[in-house]
Amino acid sequence: MSAVAGDDLVVLASNVTKRFGNTLALDDVSLEVYRSEMVVLLGLSGSGKSTLLRCLNGLHPVSSGTVEVGGTRVDQASSTELRALRRNVGFVFQHFNLVGRLSCLENVLIGGLGRLKLPRYGALTYPKRMRAEAIKHLDRVGLADFAERRADTLSGGQQQRVAIARTLMQQPGLLLADEPVASLDPENAGVVMDLLFRVCIEEKLTVVCTLHQVDLALGWAHRLIGLRNGQKVLDRPAVGLTRDDVMGIYQRVDPAAAESASRTTL
Ligand SMILES: Nc1ncnc2c1ncn2[C@@H]1O[C@H](COP(=O)(O)OP(=O)(O)OP(=O)(O)O)[C@@H](O)[C@H]1O
Ligand SMILES: [Mg+2]
Repeated sequence: MSAVAGDDLVVLASNVTKRFGNTLALDDVSLEVYRSEMVVLLGLSGSGKSTLLRCLNGLHPVSSGTVEVGGTRVDQASSTELRALRRNVGFVFQHFNLVGRLSCLENVLIGGLGRLKLPRYGALTYPKRMRAEAIKHLDRVGLADFAERRADTLSGGQQQRVAIARTLMQQPGLLLADEPVASLDPENAGVVMDLLFRVCIEEKLTVVCTLHQVDLALGWAHRLIGLRNGQKVLDRPAVGLTRDDVMGIYQRVDPAAAESASRTTL
């Protein structure tokens, strides 16, 4: 375990297996993530990264194993408990998922809807303290001047920063990010990774993020987890890891060859 600020366990997944029909998407995966830790999941396309993220917030029920997030047993949660859990777990997507015709401020305010009893239409219908909070989060991501701008007039990098501000408005304990920089140019990708890293440290927010860029993972993560064919094949602090250490994750394993090799060694 890497040394992180505070050692509270936020995510504890034990022996998680997830099947979709005949596809074994996750194969006996266990992991622990601590408060204020930034963990990056790496692996080839189809290795199970998104599935693992979705098992953490209960979007996918696990086939076997246990998942505990912030003290809630996700695998046993009722629909009410799952709703409460998802209010505490922010999700950042590759394609930002902002409402394009709404202003940046309104998009950020949407992150606070879970705290209100009734739906709201327009920034002015939110309590004043929530509007101030949303502006603070826009300022946090460097976009306070864009509060009134329609979200669909922003660049991709700016939209992702608004999406992060919306997630912060949720006041989450855990932030899951599925390829948050996959649609961005290298400069904006660095800006967004830096932002995620800073909120992780400064807000003591736990971040689990999937990436395809090894260098970004080595540059920003506290810890790297590698998945291959649904199995966890790497789980190490980023400090001291080299690119070569990580590239092993990407070796394709032909299941027939692996089986034949195991028969030969028996
Ligand atoms: N809803 C689903 N129904 C059926 N199979 C699925 C579903 N979601 C994922 N899978 C399968 O589970 C495996 C893992 O998929 P997953 O999306 O988790 O991979 P990934 O590592 O996120 O890939 P990528 O890097 O392309 O996003 C794949 O074989 C995929 O086809
Ligand atoms: Mg994915």
